[in-house]
Amino acid sequence: MSKPVRKAIFPVAGLGTRFLPATKAMPKEMLTIVDKPLIQYAVEEAMEAGIEQIILVSGRGKTSMSDHFDHSYELEQTLRARGKTEALKSVTEWLPKPGQVTVMRQQEPLGLGHAVWCARNMILDEPFAVLLADDMILSKPGCLKQMVEAFNETGGNMVAVEEVPHENTSRYGILNPVEDDGKTVRAQGLVEKPDPSVAPSNLAIIGRYILQPDVMVELERHERGAGGEIQLTDAMARTIDRIPFHGLRFDGRRFDCGSKEGFVQANVAYALNRPDLRNRVMNSLQEFCRLESDN
Ligand code: UTP
Repeated sequence: MSKPVRKAIFPVAGLGTRFLPATKAMPKEMLTIVDKPLIQYAVEEAMEAGIEQIILVSGRGKTSMSDHFDHSYELEQTLRARGKTEALKSVTEWLPKPGQVTVMRQQEPLGLGHAVWCARNMILDEPFAVLLADDMILSKPGCLKQMVEAFNETGGNMVAVEEVPHENTSRYGILNPVEDDGKTVRAQGLVEKPDPSVAPSNLAIIGRYILQPDVMVELERHERGAGGEIQLTDAMARTIDRIPFHGLRFDGRRFDCGSKEGFVQANVAYALNRPDLRNRVMNSLQEFCRLESDN
């Protein structure tokens, strides 16, 4: 039986170039879906899955993210004095407990693998989760909780996977599957961003991982991969001959909020999923689409 997954790394030190100019002075992970930043959704998903330690791997100019997980005394006092109970709850109810959030720095954006490695001293010899906040998954239970349940059966390394159109394999880490029961896929290899002509499947890794500490040892080599970056996929691939590797086809809908199209889609889908907004948003969208098609 593997040790429980108690710690989660949130790499949030990327440059977010696909979202400029919005990300010029604001971290991509603070972009909002309806009324919450991406990073808050990801942290809530992790806590629902039983994560106790939140490790943000951050970079320069991103202090707004750690502030978001701290008390804002002036704001809280003002809301309390004005009797704005609901607003007060919305900024306090979900705050992690003292000591639950750690912020590490990735001094240079050398790639996702490097960002994960920056948290090595917080992980030591335990399995850990990695969540990329810009991949949002609308599901109940959350994607990481589904993964933790599957991981309790399989152990080893586990990632969330999704079938993508073949022509898009060069955007993802891709599994080379060896067994597939329709839900859990065992892989014998992984390739980062393969050309569709050589991709071993169309099963793409999306931004949720449960990994053994051995992956940190592989990352320690600092080998550069696709795009000259230190790739997490490469480090995971190097453990595959000794540690079982599974992909989980999760239940839920994923939105790539690192792309403009995915971000807009997520805003619509999350608004329609909210009882307080659903009808008004649906009516506005229908009206909007009607006017657009008349033009
Ligand atoms: P992306 O590939 O989406 O890169 O990183 P990015 O810099 O955020 O965005 P673009 O492509 O320039 O628009 C995936 C995740 O890994 C983190 C990012 O913050 C994001 O959550 N990351 C990436 C780091 O923390 N450090 C890095 O060096 C690279």
